[in-house]
Amino acid sequence: MTSAPAFDQTIPGTASEEVEFISLSHLNPSTELNPIRTRGIDLNYFRTYVRSLEEGGFDYTLLPYGSSTADSFVVASAVGQLTERIKPIVALRPNTTFPLVAAQKLATLDQLTEGRAVVHLISGGNDAEQARQGDYLPKDRRYRRTSEYIDLLRRAWTEPAPFSHEGEFYQFDDFGPGFAPHGSPIPISIGGQSEEAFRIGGEKADIFSFWGEPLDDLRGEIERVHAIARAAGRTTVPRIWVTFRPIIAQTDELAWQKAHSYVAKISETFSKSAFGKQRHQQGAPENVGSQRALSFAEKAELYDRALWTRTAAVTNAAGASTALVGSPETVAAAILDYIDRGASLVSIRGYDTLADAVDYGRHVLPLVHQELAHRKATGRRGTLQAEHLGNYAEDYRRYATAGQA
Ligand SMILES: Cc1cc2nc3c(=O)[nH]c(=O)nc-3n(C[C@H](O)[C@H](O)[C@H](O)COP(=O)(O)O)c2cc1C
Repeated sequence: MTSAPAFDQTIPGTASEEVEFISLSHLNPSTELNPIRTRGIDLNYFRTYVRSLEEGGFDYTLLPYGSSTADSFVVASAVGQLTERIKPIVALRPNTTFPLVAAQKLATLDQLTEGRAVVHLISGGNDAEQARQGDYLPKDRRYRRTSEYIDLLRRAWTEPAPFSHEGEFYQFDDFGPGFAPHGSPIPISIGGQSEEAFRIGGEKADIFSFWGEPLDDLRGEIERVHAIARAAGRTTVPRIWVTFRPIIAQTDELAWQKAHSYVAKISETFSKSAFGKQRHQQGAPENVGSQRALSFAEKAELYDRALWTRTAAVTNAAGASTALVGSPETVAAAILDYIDRGASLVSIRGYDTLADAVDYGRHVLPLVHQELAHRKATGRRGTLQAEHLGNYAEDYRRYATAGQA
């Protein structure tokens, strides 16, 4: 058992004062628990899903991108029209769209949603997947292309007069002024954990994203990206986004029963190749984020208060895969541990996707917001983290290992 750190009333100096919640949008009811052979959009399901995110108090929804998925721009536009408040985050691979066209599409989305558009740039974590859409650049050059892309997006949104460009990857003449966003510039987020991702993200991104890692490791990575930002002369550092797949139930004990039954089903799904993702996930992953998740999983199953890595191990860390397991209180306290380390954007998506989105909205988000409101009002930490210790207490560990050989 990890010994419990002191959860006194002092708010750590690294803590974020605010948090906003993200959840990825699902287009149909197929999940790792219950895979359905479809690549299609179930419109009724999708409507219900995004509305439940909005009603549950989520602030953003990520529309992922892959060569066989639905198009993230078109889906983001639908999200905008189906909701009033939630901000669509378009996952965008630079190889798929000329930067000035992406700037135009994003500005259009931003105007159609009255300022809600966000873009998440994916440089590509797998050579074979990139080649499926004609991109043969090695990863370091893909990141250099992303860097030039970011500059062009921002210029296209803000430059008042026509301009020409001759760069390493793009060339054009006499463009502009481009179609402008609704108001302020559209936030640009970076996905990726390689050296190049840190450099470009630190120098240029508004948001830098991670999959769920142990607290100390994540804190080290946050310091790394912030140091790069400061060395580049930035006055503001990127906001930090961290992603989990929580498994919650009324009590820690029930959550662990659920977690054990889930992992058996997920592992069956992946071993049968029945899930669409399988195609991208054979052999050792090429992207550093997944490599990190697998190396944490190899070292231990449980970290800190509630971080569980078995779900990463059985899926070859395909996409976001690390879980937080426990009661809503334990999981909210675990999320606060990350907020205390500097995360201000928390992405949570379950394994039972729609039901979990509803449950998180009802039971987890309010606890986290309540604690941050308490901190704001009193200048002190509340008691949630001291009272719901998860893995820092003996019985939690017993539930976590129950039924295992
Ligand atoms: C929060 C988050 C969301 C991501 N969404 C996508 C996605 O929609 N499509 C995709 O191909 N990769 C996605 N990725 C994966 C990476 O961005 C990708 O692995 C990266 O381009 C290269 O990885 P590396 O720098 O870690 O080696 C996401 C990563 C993170 C952290």
